[in-house]
Amino acid sequence: MTNETLLIGQTLNFEANPFHDGIETANHDVRGGVLIENGQITATGTADDLRRDHPHADVTDYGEGLILPGFIDAHAHYPQTAMIASWGKRLIDWLNGYTFPEEMKFANVAYAKDIAKTYFDLTLASGTTTTTSFTTIHPESVDAYFNEAKSRGLRAIAGKTCMDRNAPDGLTDTAQSAYDDSKALLEKWHGQDRLIYAITPRFSPTSTREQLAALGALWAEHPDCPMQTHLSEQHEEIAWVHELFPEARDYLDTYEAAGLIGPGALFGHAIHLTDRERASLKESGSSLVHCPTSNTFIGSGLFDMDGLMREGQTIGLATDTGGGSSFSMLRTMAAAYEVAQLKGRALHPAELLWLATTGSAKALRLDTKIGSLKAGFEADLVILDLASTPAIAQRAARAGTIWEAVFPTIMMGDDRAIQDVRIQGKSINE
Ligand code: GUN
Ligand code: ZN
Repeated sequence: MTNETLLIGQTLNFEANPFHDGIETANHDVRGGVLIENGQITATGTADDLRRDHPHADVTDYGEGLILPGFIDAHAHYPQTAMIASWGKRLIDWLNGYTFPEEMKFANVAYAKDIAKTYFDLTLASGTTTTTSFTTIHPESVDAYFNEAKSRGLRAIAGKTCMDRNAPDGLTDTAQSAYDDSKALLEKWHGQDRLIYAITPRFSPTSTREQLAALGALWAEHPDCPMQTHLSEQHEEIAWVHELFPEARDYLDTYEAAGLIGPGALFGHAIHLTDRERASLKESGSSLVHCPTSNTFIGSGLFDMDGLMREGQTIGLATDTGGGSSFSMLRTMAAAYEVAQLKGRALHPAELLWLATTGSAKALRLDTKIGSLKAGFEADLVILDLASTPAIAQRAARAGTIWEAVFPTIMMGDDRAIQDVRIQGKSINE
């Protein structure tokens, strides 16, 4: 008897970062295989070799479907699911007009549970197998997210969003309660199954120095946890940070002063950076998270992917739902392509797919566990149908290479392109 599962289809495997080492470090197998046992990938190779060596494995043949590591969303706000695509505002007005009223509703536990369920239905249908989410100030919103992720066997990251100023009544905590609640939630959830707790000050405008320092202290006590926040998204926001923190050298310095920088730090957006901030981000080993659909939707600006990669920054990719206008990492890769084009650099499909998988995993310090099709990695997978609509199919039919075949799906694909999703080896469609 065996409980081995063998998946057959096209496979793509990244040996290295294609931004640094070239796209030829990506291996494509037109008839590849992924062997899975107990939720882990145990071997990859050609379908023929794996079939021969594992004759008793339970085989699923995806035909020309492309087997990839599941997509990893490195920055999202699950509580903003119900207000995605809210019209016509820039960041500060968007927060006050749409976001905070919606987040207020998470005082209601039943509502939080309902949205968490919808959120994971939507992200899984988009091929995203790991999400990294802000929640609301309510500890129950963290419980709702982790309970839902746990019931689906997901690797998932989140933390209580902390705000002790510049937010409406009913949506603020204090420096002390943020520390206490975050600590209790961390102790409750971090390391349970595949769940990871992230210390989460929303951003400097909604936290006092005392709150940032308290969360810095908590992080120092739990350095294996990630710390997520926002950085330099819009010019108005940056000006506001300078008013609120006149002593700070720049926006990043408001976090640095509180010990909120270093390995495991995830800075969402990071668009309008000074040279000092860039140097400090790099030197400290912090990660940047590119949120392209959000940056165009809210009108924030164009992330400097090429320059930041060249200087050796660690960068993940994210939807930033619901400032971002999609739950889909395919749509997010398309937006990353478009933004880079506006900056004069065409990102290669290999670079886009790497960002959405290994790149995000690296940013999250999870790149020995998820984001690669390699033995020893968790078997969270997405299988893409590269001919999911007539428009995509007619273009892909004329493709000469795998990159030409997959690029139409990156640019035009949606949940119809998701042929299957596997969590710890099991299909969500079984
Ligand atoms: N900055 C602070 N909070 C948020 C948020 O919820 N979304 C975005 N896009 N930026 C933020
Ligand atoms: Zn965000």
